[in-house]
Amino acid sequence: MRNQLALIGISIALIVTQTSTSALGQFNYDEAKVPKFELPKLLVSASGKKIATAADWKKVRRPEIFKLFQDEMYGAAPGRPEGMTFKVFESSDKALGGKATRKQVRVQFVKDNEDAWMDILIYTPNKVKGAVPGFLGLNFNGNHSVVNDPAIPVTPRWVRSNGKGVVKNKASEAGRGGNASRWAIDSILDAGYALITVYCGDLDEDYKGNFQNGVQPLFYKKGQTEPSPSQWGTISVWAWGLSRTMDYLETDDDIDHKKIAVMGHSRLGKTALWAGASDERFAIVISNNSGCGGAALSRREFGETVRRINTSFPHWFCGNFKKYNDNVNALPIDQHMLVALIAPRPAYIASAVEDRWADPRGEFLSAKHAEPVYALFEDGATGVGAKKWPGVDKPVSGIMGYHIRTGAHDVTEYDWQQYIHFANRHFGR
Ligand code: GCU
Repeated sequence: MRNQLALIGISIALIVTQTSTSALGQFNYDEAKVPKFELPKLLVSASGKKIATAADWKKVRRPEIFKLFQDEMYGAAPGRPEGMTFKVFESSDKALGGKATRKQVRVQFVKDNEDAWMDILIYTPNKVKGAVPGFLGLNFNGNHSVVNDPAIPVTPRWVRSNGKGVVKNKASEAGRGGNASRWAIDSILDAGYALITVYCGDLDEDYKGNFQNGVQPLFYKKGQTEPSPSQWGTISVWAWGLSRTMDYLETDDDIDHKKIAVMGHSRLGKTALWAGASDERFAIVISNNSGCGGAALSRREFGETVRRINTSFPHWFCGNFKKYNDNVNALPIDQHMLVALIAPRPAYIASAVEDRWADPRGEFLSAKHAEPVYALFEDGATGVGAKKWPGVDKPVSGIMGYHIRTGAHDVTEYDWQQYIHFANRHFGR
């Protein structure tokens, strides 16, 4: 009897973990319950023209798709502001025990507003002479959290949303190096790359219901108090910051700015993909566990859904994206099209086996369904390098790359090993 009860208990627990309903809406972890869906057509234009060449993709279809992502999902961002300045406020060639040169750059976005800035932290390997390629990524908790290095100022900005509301904290010394395990700095420098990072909170602090913080207000028209429904949400603001970082890198002789891989984890992985789609100066784009609104196909509704993300994080996407909360099939785009916008540049998508919230299979499928666009640029293009979703810890790659690693939602040394290997191959190193 007791055994039977225990079995019933286990079965109930299993059902609960497969499908669950909460105040924020239902989510599903059961592959059998993924709805049947049809993806929007990549290679047919809005007017019904079949897109069969790279030239037509670039001229007709790519701009159409880009505009849909811009107006319906991430929101349009302005360009480079006039009067933006860069100032190296600290540097040392004796960083990290003499292994690296550290440079910290203050970017002031507009004249006469000293509060509107972001700080770029750069490490370049001392063993390499001349300009080096680099990995660029936004960080979650302040530049001081990336590396345990006392020369990095603790960020004065610090507001994080936990999805339920606002969590306010003040950053402190205690957070120094707190996220170092996510940045593999030794491996990056040893492989001859720079590590370049910026705190996402310098661009827009991550909480809902306030359109006065962050850089958006710098661009409001007279009387405007929040972005219009097709103007930038926070992810688009963060991506804009990556482009402004690239503006600086183009001026730095220590960096080979034509060889920058933009990388991001989770919400910042969504950001890396949108940055790579919006700014073709990024040579490689890497999405680590980016999930819903990143690499995962929205129509699968596996793990986090459009409704759920728009409810927990309404500030991440533009106002128009909310239209699709209850009708994801009406979205004129899906995330394979975002990956396709990166073509012909290499893109790498990574998942983690326990990160079901991010829908690992859906992340792989986006890369897979982007392949026809890569094939327009190169006859017989290798795509993602696998016909089927590969096994755990079995990275695959062609012009794109993919792996699903053991473990949870995170960035690990293993992930970085794959990214370095992939970048080496594409940069001919
Ligand atoms: C939440 C959110 C995800 C996001 C993640 C993160 O889990 O639902 O969409 O990717 O936070 O950024 O860590």
